[in-house]
Amino acid sequence: MLDKHAIFEKHGWLLSIAILVTVSIGGIIEIAPLFYLESTIEKVEGMRPYSPLELAGRNVYVREGCYLCHSQQIRPLRDEVERYGHYSLAAESMYDHPFQWGSKRTGPDLARVGGKYSDAWHLQHLIDPRSVVPESVMPPYGFLERNTIDLDRLALDLKANRAVGVPYTDEMIEKAASDASTQTDPFSADYDAFLARYPKAQIRDFDGNEGAITEMDALIAYLQVLGTMVDFEKYQPEENYR
Ligand code: HEC
Repeated sequence: MLDKHAIFEKHGWLLSIAILVTVSIGGIIEIAPLFYLESTIEKVEGMRPYSPLELAGRNVYVREGCYLCHSQQIRPLRDEVERYGHYSLAAESMYDHPFQWGSKRTGPDLARVGGKYSDAWHLQHLIDPRSVVPESVMPPYGFLERNTIDLDRLALDLKANRAVGVPYTDEMIEKAASDASTQTDPFSADYDAFLARYPKAQIRDFDGNEGAITEMDALIAYLQVLGTMVDFEKYQPEENYR
């Protein structure tokens, strides 16, 4: 057996091919299940794709690298569940491309931050974190208030997400720009139709500036929806984690 190994040692090209074959076995085992993910994620009631405004906020979150300091994944450990709430379900990030689980927590986990604070708190905190949490090391993001959202791009964002499996309908894509305006305007004529497309979406002016739809609106809309889609009254933690 061992002298057969000499064949590999004497022929570099054969050794390279053998290495490739061996390594790809591990690769296939890791990659193949990704193609069947849909069937491995348990469906959970309440999960819906992000609204165009929430998706725009999520893009800001990714662009600004919030994930470098914040995770969005509550592990099924007692201290985490007591602090943040029910541990994260796979379905909660099924529409996240890419997911924002993260592994670094300079700041707290944000998977359930929706509804924890008012919009005004988020606004103040994002403009000047230390004005509300004096010991904070979070950087300020006040400039988001001055960046308006390019509404025409939203349909493309939805389309890109649909290409990777998020079930956006043609209607949702067509209405992307107007849906973003509707979400910041409680008096919009399209209120009911918007809610039918994105059930339980929160509709209001998020950044206190009614004149424009800014990245601040989008980011706060996104933060306020995190962890609120699934009704956890129905998903009590198991005995050990309560
Ligand atoms: C350098 C690390 C760092 C970065 C980058 C960062 N944060 Fe934070 N964040 C913190 C720390 C530390 C805290 C805890 C102190 C505080 O509340 O300010 C925090 C707190 C928060 C909270 C309050 C969480 C809670 O439950 O009290 C929110 C919301 C938040 N950050 C959002 C964001 C968003 C959105 C971004 C990106 C635009 C971001 N953070 C980027 C470090 C960071």
